[in-house]
Amino acid sequence: MSKLVFNGGNTPAFNGKLVDYNPFGEEEKKAAIAVLESGNLSGFVATGDKRFYGGEKVREFESLFSARIGTKYAVSFNSATSGLVAAIGALKLSVGDEVIVPAQTMSASAACALAYSAIPVFADVEKETYCIDPKSLREKISEKTKAIVVVHLYGHPANMAEILSIAKEFNLKIIEDCSQAPTGYYKNQNVGTFGDIGIFSFNFHKHINCGEGGIAVVNDEELRERLCLIRNHGEVKGFQGDLSHTVGWNFRLTELQAAIAIEQTKKIDILVGTKQKQAQKLTSLLSGYKWLQTPVVLENCSHVYYDFPMRLNLEGTGLDLDKLRKITALENLPITDSYKPLYWFPIYQSQICYGKDHFPFNLLSEKNKNNYQKGSCPNAESLYEKECLTFEICSYALTDDILDCFPVMFDKITKEYF
Ligand SMILES: Cc1ncc(COP(=O)(O)O)c(C=O)c1O
Repeated sequence: MSKLVFNGGNTPAFNGKLVDYNPFGEEEKKAAIAVLESGNLSGFVATGDKRFYGGEKVREFESLFSARIGTKYAVSFNSATSGLVAAIGALKLSVGDEVIVPAQTMSASAACALAYSAIPVFADVEKETYCIDPKSLREKISEKTKAIVVVHLYGHPANMAEILSIAKEFNLKIIEDCSQAPTGYYKNQNVGTFGDIGIFSFNFHKHINCGEGGIAVVNDEELRERLCLIRNHGEVKGFQGDLSHTVGWNFRLTELQAAIAIEQTKKIDILVGTKQKQAQKLTSLLSGYKWLQTPVVLENCSHVYYDFPMRLNLEGTGLDLDKLRKITALENLPITDSYKPLYWFPIYQSQICYGKDHFPFNLLSEKNKNNYQKGSCPNAESLYEKECLTFEICSYALTDDILDCFPVMFDKITKEYF
């Protein structure tokens, strides 16, 4: 066995370069060309008739997606971030309302609240699933708490049974951020169908994508209308419902993106299934290393593996996460950081967002005033600093031959450090 390149060896475990994942085929090309030839790249108008709801392709994409997930409606957006912002508005969350968000996730899961001057309050995550810990969630509830953004992180569902019961007890709205978990299920029910609104991402590094894009799934007709109003300037004539918090934007998806998203949605189970097979192979290849815990899949749940997070016990080895990242990069199988606890970011540390007067953070409840202090979510901090690295399985085109190189790399690490 050759040595690690980091330690002077000259043969990396994978003697090549990982290539970007490309989920597109002839169907997407044909669909995109047909839209170009039609001359209509967007079917939206902001006022008046049914074009307020978008062009033909946008509406077809929404029908197809809602049918697959099992909701009455879907409303597409130009990103999941736009969808999350619209969800906050559609649920009438507003100035000074606290919205509980897991500390480890992508920044948009929390920033969406700030768009309406509501305030993200961070709860800790479970080390086993990396998703929000219901115990910590309960501890962060104050008299100002109005909603929870639940994130099905890395493709594994959060503990929905307990979260739903807490939400019911305290009358909290639920937004499910399913950006990383298309087709994922919890106790045999699709993620996105538990809360008030579920949001999915179609950006370029997701299982299925159209470059940039997102979609909200919803069963309530009024919520659907409110999402449509926020997406499209809020100008529709004749709307009879409650207009509060429906300030309108342009969050619209183009026909070109929708046409590609339609073809991707038709293949959703094949594309997700391919990543699951790759992850299952990786799990079995890496199950023998005592210092490494592969992703856990809870009973009657699915993992769709947007990422492949690994829990590591490096105690007494002289290794830390930074060194391990460098080692794996030189072996051409780069394993990268997990999410930095969001409250460590400057916006939360400085509590500067709108103007210089700490608005809306100056409205935090007494109970959550110290929510952004170091130590607030110990699991999230420890995972990021000491315990977890992830392989971005969705970002690369992978073959069995490439996956077989992982144990070669981990054998070398074990031999040289453990
Ligand atoms: C959990 C999560 N939420 C939200 C987003 C934002 O998605 P988009 O890039 O479509 O706005 C992402 C994107 O990576 C994400 O992973």
